[in-house]
Amino acid sequence: MEKTLVLIKPDAMRRRLACTILCRLENIGLKIVALKLLHIDKQLAQKHYAIHREKPFFNDLVDYISSAPIAAAVFEGENAIESVREAMGATDPKKAQAGSIRGDFGVDIEHNSVHGSDSIETAKVEIRLFFNKGEVFSSQSGY
Ligand code: RTP
Ligand code: MG
Repeated sequence: MEKTLVLIKPDAMRRRLACTILCRLENIGLKIVALKLLHIDKQLAQKHYAIHREKPFFNDLVDYISSAPIAAAVFEGENAIESVREAMGATDPKKAQAGSIRGDFGVDIEHNSVHGSDSIETAKVEIRLFFNKGEVFSSQSGY
């Protein structure tokens, strides 16, 4: 069983796509084990995207993800990290397959609707940035 962090980005929230995107992930067999709405500050955005600190798009990325409320969720399931990445599609919606979340709803490379953790290690760090231990449930406890 893996857990992974999913963020519904501001472009998707504005277009009322949060429910649709969460549904797609439930429909591939993953379970929501944590969920909240929040408007993150620049500090949390910088920590979340710290790996991209040196990239030319870093400041825009931080400004964008902290520009409006987002939904944060933890999904749990077998192979959850790769399953979410596959369901999201390529980073650039223009390159994402039709039927993937970004292929269907992404606007451009910045406004690409959704974030998903990219490894077991980053998932652990990212989940802890957004949720306290008591806010994350587990299907292994009978839920
Ligand atoms: P995310 O972290 O948001 O799930 O996206 P990702 O893994 O598919 O892509 P990543 O390489 O981690 O990039 C993080 C976000 O930075 C923006 N980006 N812009 N202008 C560019 O070349 C560029 N490359 C990446 C995207 O918004 C991407 O989601
Ligand atoms: Mg990433």
